[in-house]
Amino acid sequence: MASLLTFLIFQSSLLFSGVIGLSWESWWTYDGISGPAFWGLINPEWSLCTKGRRQSPVNLEPNKLLFDPNLRPLHMDKHRVNGMLTNTGHSVLFRVENSTRQHVNFTGGPLSYKYQLHHMHIHYGLVDQTGSEHTINGQTFPAEIQIFGFNSQLYSNFSEAIHRAQGIVAISVLLQLGDLSNPELRILTDNLEKIKYGGEEVEVKRLSVVGLLPDTEYYMTYDGSTTMPPCHETLTWVILNKPIYITKQQLHGLRRLMQGDVGEPKAPLGNNFRPPQPLHHRPLRTNIDFNVKQAGAKQCPSMYKEVYYKANSWKLH
Ligand SMILES: *[C@@H]1O[C@H](CO)[C@@H](O)[C@H](O)[C@H]1NC(C)=O
Ligand SMILES: *[C@@H]1O[C@H](CO)[C@@H](O)[C@H](O)[C@H]1NC(C)=O
Ligand SMILES: *[C@@H]1O[C@H](CO)[C@@H](O)[C@H](O)[C@H]1NC(C)=O
Repeated sequence: MASLLTFLIFQSSLLFSGVIGLSWESWWTYDGISGPAFWGLINPEWSLCTKGRRQSPVNLEPNKLLFDPNLRPLHMDKHRVNGMLTNTGHSVLFRVENSTRQHVNFTGGPLSYKYQLHHMHIHYGLVDQTGSEHTINGQTFPAEIQIFGFNSQLYSNFSEAIHRAQGIVAISVLLQLGDLSNPELRILTDNLEKIKYGGEEVEVKRLSVVGLLPDTEYYMTYDGSTTMPPCHETLTWVILNKPIYITKQQLHGLRRLMQGDVGEPKAPLGNNFRPPQPLHHRPLRTNIDFNVKQAGAKQCPSMYKEVYYKANSWKLH
């Protein structure tokens, strides 16, 4: 019934969008009958959102993690980049200037290829209890920053890579409420006033993407998808095993952003997260060697497993 309804509404919206020149982009949301449960039904090209079995985000359960000694530290180039910060109506997007001569590359970690930084998204909640897409042992965080790069050894650009094997890497940084913000995050949040409405954008200069990463070499990794339509299953996800911090004021700044334009602001942009998707037997690998924690203990199948998020149990402020 619900899907039939969506279909009917979709048919009329197609005519409508044809008339006023809107793209497909406008026809999905994070709630209601164009929300995550229906993305795969709205557009045949988004069918993976419903049918796919390697979808993202997921809930990362510590007792399902597998230590993989082949996983190396992740490397990211340190230099600063310029780009545009945009309120897309679905998310806060930072897109690296495409004319940059010196690209920021990612290598190592679970990656077999070199990836080139392309853009980042911020997902966040309208209340502190929700916001992140990935969850740790069922716990959500107030926000999540996702940093995307494309495989520049095999493909010539992001749009090509997103359709292809080993095309994209997504690095996820979970955000925790704190009294002192990560300094690079402040560069982004200081500009939010200028992108209050959907479609607005502002230039941001000299951002260090490395500076947005928490101080840890530990991560969890799995094969998944984009968390927005079309839900392509070409992503290697890397979830860093420590949060960075965002203040209450910065979260308020994010929560003031609206989906629509000045004339029709629509709903607040926040709560732009897709719920966790089933794992369907995918392995969740990690470079956290749980054995090392037990001095002198031999390799043993009942090893004690500890992840930062569990060890420092998440407190609501
Ligand atoms: C960068 O992107 C803009 C807008 O998308 C485009 O007009 C321009 O040609 C691009 N420049 C390069 C060097 O790719
Ligand atoms: C990143 O890789 C590209 C080639 O893919 C190279 O031209 C560029 O210099 C690299 N960036 C750095 C900082 O090494
Ligand atoms: C991306 O690369 C493909 C293949 O080389 C090319 O056909 C396409 O025009 C490129 N797209 C953009 C946006 O540059």
